[in-house]
Amino acid sequence: MARLLLTGGAGFIGSHTALVLLQAGHHLVVLDDFRNRNPVALKRVKQLSGKQITLVAGNLNDPACLERLFRGGPYGIGGSFDAVIHFAGLKAVGESVKHPLLYWQVNLEGTRLLLAAMAAAGCFSLVFSSSATLYGMPNQVPIPESAQIQPINPYGHSKAAAEQLLADLAGSSSCWRIARLRYFNPVGAHPSGLIGEDPAGIPNNLFPFVSQVAVGKRPELLIFGDDWPTIDGTGVRDYIHVMDLAEGHAAALEVLLAGAPQLLTLNLGSGEGHSVLQVLRGFEQACGRELPYRIVDRRPGDAAITVADPSLAKALLGWRTKRNLAQICTDGWAWQAANPNGYR
Ligand code: WQD
Repeated sequence: MARLLLTGGAGFIGSHTALVLLQAGHHLVVLDDFRNRNPVALKRVKQLSGKQITLVAGNLNDPACLERLFRGGPYGIGGSFDAVIHFAGLKAVGESVKHPLLYWQVNLEGTRLLLAAMAAAGCFSLVFSSSATLYGMPNQVPIPESAQIQPINPYGHSKAAAEQLLADLAGSSSCWRIARLRYFNPVGAHPSGLIGEDPAGIPNNLFPFVSQVAVGKRPELLIFGDDWPTIDGTGVRDYIHVMDLAEGHAAALEVLLAGAPQLLTLNLGSGEGHSVLQVLRGFEQACGRELPYRIVDRRPGDAAITVADPSLAKALLGWRTKRNLAQICTDGWAWQAANPNGYR
């Protein structure tokens, strides 16, 4: 089994992936600055898995922290890692427009510092948390990995730059084994209801917002436009269950650990689109009541339809999503109902 470093491993996708990796027998060290994440998530991952996690509080933009982490020292880590899964980053589109310097510092410079520490320590396998946001307003749907990279906000620009850095690195030496995983819309929760998505403040994204309406934390859902060229006029997205996403990371890791030098770039999505109203109806089924909503103007920067072509991940990883929208809503509601205030 492998010795892995998960950066940002206390977050929504990181915590679910940590659970899958622990259950596969890997040994985990998690680096997290807990900027807007709660350590309780990892306590529950340990509870669910019955395994231990070495937790290091710190961040990638602190070279001293990375130096100690990769070279042992007070964290008592010691030794090198077989691979790194790099979740740490900022991902709120609106926030990135207001604070581009912060987004470039964390998402690009943080990644560069991590890669430099990895190279110095002789660790050359990396799974990178990328995003469908790189496709901007897609020219074609479903979207293949070969589609134009045309991000339209600082968050997307910083992720595209980090992807380019990884491509340059892979091209510089055959020792690198890198997987760039482009997430579509990660949603849902582990079926136990113990871990799930816990956004700070008012949720930017649809699924956690609907969840909070269902649990009574928000009065109504505002639907950003019902005049899109879609099945019912509301925006269509490719919602992927976070457990499917976590399993996709484990599958990509196994390919990298097998040793062949490579640069994998893969869409992780279901290949199926669902509209805002379809998600709302699905959540009403899960929570057993009607949820109030109001149609408002379109949100700037939104696309009508964003859906993955996930065939390359199926071909190269033997991975595909297994959970449908009903399961997503059932599991998402189980988490929210049991944790009305998230981990707080
Ligand atoms: C989904 C649909 C909205 C909220 C974003 C980021 C992307 C990625 C995933 C990190 C759209 C509609 C939403 C609401 C609504 N994050 N909506 N009312 O915009 O596809 O992607 O999250 O990588 O980078 O851009 O997801 O959940 O915000 O929106 O009507 O209160 O729901 O218009 O059609 P999106 P989303």
